[in-house]
Amino acid sequence: MIIRTAENAGFCFGVRRAVESALSEASSRRGEPIYTLGELIHNSGVVSQLRQEGVMTAGDLSEIPDGATVIIRSHGVGEDVYDEIRARGLRLVDATCPNVKSIQNKVEKHHGLGYTIIIVGDRTHPEVIGINGWCENSALIVSDPEQASALELGGPVCVVAQTTSIKEKFDAVCRVIRKKAPDAVVFNTICRATQLRQAETEALSKESDVMIVLGGANSSNTAKLAEISAAHCPRVIHIESPDSLSGYSFCGDERVGITAGASTPQEKIMEVVHIMENTMENWDQSLDDFKRLRVGDIVKGTVVAVNEESVYLDIEDYKSDGIIKKSDFVMDLYTDLPSTVAIGDEVEAMITDMNDGTGNVVLSKIKVDELAALNVTKEKFEAKETVKGKIVKVVKGGMIVDTGFVKAFMPANQYALRYVEDINALLGKEVEGRIIEFDRDKNKIIFSRRVILQEELNAKREEQARRKQAALDAIEEGMVIEAPVKNITNFGVFLDLNGVDGFIHISDLSWKRVAKTEDFCKPGDVLQAKIVEIDQEKGKVRCTVKGLTEEPWVVFTKTYKVGDTIEGTVKSITKFGAFVEIIPMVEGLVHISNLSYDKVESVESVVSVGETVKAKIIEINTEKRKVGLSIKELTEAPKKKIAKNRLYYKEDSTTTLEDAFKKYQN
Ligand code: F3S
Repeated sequence: MIIRTAENAGFCFGVRRAVESALSEASSRRGEPIYTLGELIHNSGVVSQLRQEGVMTAGDLSEIPDGATVIIRSHGVGEDVYDEIRARGLRLVDATCPNVKSIQNKVEKHHGLGYTIIIVGDRTHPEVIGINGWCENSALIVSDPEQASALELGGPVCVVAQTTSIKEKFDAVCRVIRKKAPDAVVFNTICRATQLRQAETEALSKESDVMIVLGGANSSNTAKLAEISAAHCPRVIHIESPDSLSGYSFCGDERVGITAGASTPQEKIMEVVHIMENTMENWDQSLDDFKRLRVGDIVKGTVVAVNEESVYLDIEDYKSDGIIKKSDFVMDLYTDLPSTVAIGDEVEAMITDMNDGTGNVVLSKIKVDELAALNVTKEKFEAKETVKGKIVKVVKGGMIVDTGFVKAFMPANQYALRYVEDINALLGKEVEGRIIEFDRDKNKIIFSRRVILQEELNAKREEQARRKQAALDAIEEGMVIEAPVKNITNFGVFLDLNGVDGFIHISDLSWKRVAKTEDFCKPGDVLQAKIVEIDQEKGKVRCTVKGLTEEPWVVFTKTYKVGDTIEGTVKSITKFGAFVEIIPMVEGLVHISNLSYDKVESVESVVSVGETVKAKIIEINTEKRKVGLSIKELTEAPKKKIAKNRLYYKEDSTTTLEDAFKKYQN
């Protein structure tokens, strides 16, 4: 059994307003006499409830005691009733529906202008009686075209309709009137709520095997709903209250439509739905297994037929078949359905409509796929899982990434750590990233490759920092290490100390003067060095190669003194003497005058570069780090008087050892 309820069934605006007014009066004037003029609505249950609240029903004004409050119901009343209420000093609460009041105003105005008023409706209905009361009860009242054709008309004519009239009937009556009075002023005053309810009832009754019409037996609008239903549906059940349903039986596989008149509260309609659902569950045990399905449910089914346009499913545990239109089955409409799905295949789909008009449940497989994709997306988003995808489209501000289960938007700045000039060039590229934003309601799925790159970079930096700290922890000041040269600069050399750089300034490379670092070493060379200073905070290490050995001058002074004989190599010769290396990087000068007791024409005539000579230390200038040597003094001095040779140097000469070194250095 399929149960469907008309959307606009039940209380209309005017009736709800009247009921609310009455309940409000009952609550604010508890204990005072309150009356409605006639039953407030055509619903005995509501009338009885109002009575319990202290709102009584009076057939006419004579039944209402003086001083009481009188509520005029939504149907409205004639002008004379207002006059009487005023005359008696009754307290008035006017709950006339604004739609009805509008008709009364039209009638009053046109009657005043001399028009003949024609009301299309039921002459016994309170609304029609009330409207007639605004033209001194002079209106001609007709309910169908036959009655209209019997009218004798002369002069101007104004036509209005009872608010609950059937539109077709009203139009038919108007056609007749226009033949008699072509200039007739016609107001279609059928209430829109009524029209809507009637149109829905008609549509529903066309798709139903049984129509249940709920509403008062004397309710004009309910009667019209029953009338409309009967024109399109083979079985119409008009009941006043849900209890009355017990007198009817159902075979179980009907399509049941439910509608209700304007005076029927929503609770009563729900009660009917509830009873029908229970009936459905009870009437046949074999149907117990059938699922109660609703729009939005996901069902499983087996394909029982397929053609170019649709796939038909036998829905599991359900009596009706399901239909999936091609556009609800595949995204690509060029897909050949029969070669995509076969009879016997199992398919999961979502119900989008309980009835396609021929009894099939309308289904969508795409919605299930979308839902599954969103669930997968949500899981991956929450788990911060890495997702692979392909850039399939470039759009304003970014790219669309197809992850295989969902298409996500990747803003241009989420592609890389740096700005990408031309994102069009990325089209078709495979990417790895993560869903960084997921909002199902806003259909917002943001993909980011950058987040992965950033994490990798951070991890790399952390590893570097960890290694650097480990390297720093492994060394201490004064330690001698061996490490490869990482790179060289004009001002020094960097050693690789297992993740931390050890810097050696050019001046710390050697006790000798180093003009260019590349003269000393090249990248890849392994140097032995001593750690001089470690700056833990800045992660800097300063090293020295020079510091590995004692300063040559200190070694010299510790080893030699004036008067000692040394053996050294002549390293260079100048016109005033020869420089002899005493120990590495300490040289002494043998002045030309100290080469020999003989006349020396030139230094080269006595010694030559590379020659090993013995000499006596004759002076050590500690302050200026100069050494004076003499070869001559290691030989015996001649006895003869030294001829008047021209001397380059003599003891009483004004040229000092320092002057000689200066000349040498220059
Ligand atoms: Fe008013 Fe229309 Fe209801 S006329 S009372 S809103 S049916």
